[in-house]
Amino acid sequence: YSPTVDEAPDAEIELPSFVKFPASAPPTLLGNLINELQLIEHGEGGFFRETDRSPFTMAIAEKDAHVPMNSQAVGPSISVTSEMGTVTRRNYSTLIYYLLTPSSPIGKMHKNKNRIIHILQKGRGQYVLVYPDGRIKSFKVGFNHLRGEVSHWVVPGGVYKASFVLANDEFSNGLLISEVVVPGFEYIDHNFISGFKELELLSSNEYNTFEHYQEDY
Ligand code: GUN
Repeated sequence: YSPTVDEAPDAEIELPSFVKFPASAPPTLLGNLINELQLIEHGEGGFFRETDRSPFTMAIAEKDAHVPMNSQAVGPSISVTSEMGTVTRRNYSTLIYYLLTPSSPIGKMHKNKNRIIHILQKGRGQYVLVYPDGRIKSFKVGFNHLRGEVSHWVVPGGVYKASFVLANDEFSNGLLISEVVVPGFEYIDHNFISGFKELELLSSNEYNTFEHYQEDY
């Protein structure tokens, strides 16, 4: 559940021409910004940089962290078996910049175990969410609140998310956001959708996977 998303008006999915046919290079303004912010290509599409990772860490039960029992935890995490069962650790939070451009206009569909706070910095875009029960939600992000755009939004844990940039003059058809994840980002909490088949099955509501699904989303 997220008021910021649930209260955002539903929007039709109409892909701009440069989303269907990406440009070969970003416009000058966005190219300069990629250099200034030292952004790198993201596997999801677009560009990003992690700008903060809390030095403080919290213990998480491995069942919640989706680390298979008896397997080695990755990254900075460590596993300890104690009275609370097997636990692993996560940083309290992480913060990234994320940029979509006409040359890399799509954030490919994926989900994270944890809810992610998104804060718009500049430009316009559209999000498509697919919930574990197959419900689909699409909404626009931008600063024209009267037109139904939202400028910050929270995607619940376990919900698939894709995004694409929308046409805008003020930011050369770009979309720049900040994302905060609590507890902090780890690849093991992140899953790309396996393909169109999974999307079809999920949205047809005949199939439900409760893997990586927070019951209180
Ligand atoms: N490394 C690769 N992708 C991500 C991401 O989405 N967030 C963070 N914090 N780090 C990443």
